[in-house]
Amino acid sequence: MKILVTGGLGFIGSHTSVELINKGYDVTIIDNLVNSNISVLKNIEKITGIRPEFHKIDLRNKNELKKKFRSNIFNGVIHFAALKSVSESVKNPELYLTNNVEATKNLLDFIASKNRKTNLIFSSSCTVYGQAKKLPINESSPVVKQESPYGESKKICEEIIRNEIVINKNINGISLRYFNPIGAHESSLIGEHPKGIPENLVPYITQFAIGKRKELIIFGNDYPTIDGTCIRDYIHIKDLANAHVSALEFLSKMKKENFYDFFNVGTGRGTTVLELIKIFEDTNNIKLKYKIGNRRAGDIIAAYADIKKINTTIGWYAKNTISNALKTAWNWEKQQSKLNDN
Ligand code: NAD
Ligand code: UD1
Repeated sequence: MKILVTGGLGFIGSHTSVELINKGYDVTIIDNLVNSNISVLKNIEKITGIRPEFHKIDLRNKNELKKKFRSNIFNGVIHFAALKSVSESVKNPELYLTNNVEATKNLLDFIASKNRKTNLIFSSSCTVYGQAKKLPINESSPVVKQESPYGESKKICEEIIRNEIVINKNINGISLRYFNPIGAHESSLIGEHPKGIPENLVPYITQFAIGKRKELIIFGNDYPTIDGTCIRDYIHIKDLANAHVSALEFLSKMKKENFYDFFNVGTGRGTTVLELIKIFEDTNNIKLKYKIGNRRAGDIIAAYADIKKINTTIGWYAKNTISNALKTAWNWEKQQSKLNDN
């Protein structure tokens, strides 16, 4: 089975490529390296013993895929390539429309041009639900008007993929709506590489713990939750990576044509910011001297997934603990710091 992985040198793409290679898939990665480093390729090879084919391609360039892969056939495509900073998207919405939406259109155009059965998995986000009225959030929860161009780009991409599949019986597809991926590979060879100051909680914590950030601020402790801090569904990166493999396996057995559906990918459990910090401290034997600050604009109070649909339809379950994810995240941070010292 030949799989094209877009954005395959990024955080989720690199872990998914490892899981795919370990299961015997033949992986080709494309990435424009805007938020990743070519060294990830070598590290995927160190982990798996196989160096996947790699091409530096920017998906915004309309015909580059067609030119590069004129005679290649892919059974599956996993589309991770996108920009993901909420704050950057607010400052530069046009960039997010071009990079995330136009790029997805170009990819669909390439897949359609092949006239061959192709299974497509798309990286979506729980952000499409906004602050859901009912918790846990199931897939019937409405997709709401997005507060950021980043969220809007995910919503639009889901729609254009679904619309393409309605008219193209060669493509079957799934959008995976991720909750909050955390952690790193147990080898510490691949992990999350935030650009500049991390916006997400776990990379911020690890950078604070190693001394790269002066203070760790908790964004509000006056929310209506058990300890006043926001609730999220933190999922181990290895579990998330495996969800893609399971989704591909599911599509490869699919008898229907024009099949499209979307699934939550989370653990089904909510954890507050303070609970997560406590798990980090206990797991890694480190005390974090955090401060309480103001609420962050745009934050939702609580989001955790109802995972019945993916459990029962695809047969995927999260297996790893938050503690294990926070151990691997910390080991990864220490490894990065060693590399920077040398
Ligand atoms: P990442 O930035 O680590 O990986 C994305 C990769 O895509 C990077 O290697 C980047 O260089 C590449 N890329 C970006 N634009 C490209 C383009 N035009 N052409 C070719 N390559 C391009 O991000 P990630 O955390 O691995 O996220 C992967 C996907 O999952 C994204 O679509 C993101 O929106 C989505 N997602 C991420 C999260 C999260 O918390 N990390 C949550 C929900 C959804
Ligand atoms: C953010 C994005 C969302 C994206 C998701 C996963 C926003 C508004 N939303 O959501 O679109 O899909 O990441 O990439 O940015 N926190 C602190 N201190 C910090 C950092 C975070 O207290 O220094 C808190 C936040 O307020 C939040 C929780 O930690 O309550 C998790 O934050 P984060 O990791 O940014 O994820 P999301 O808020 O879910």
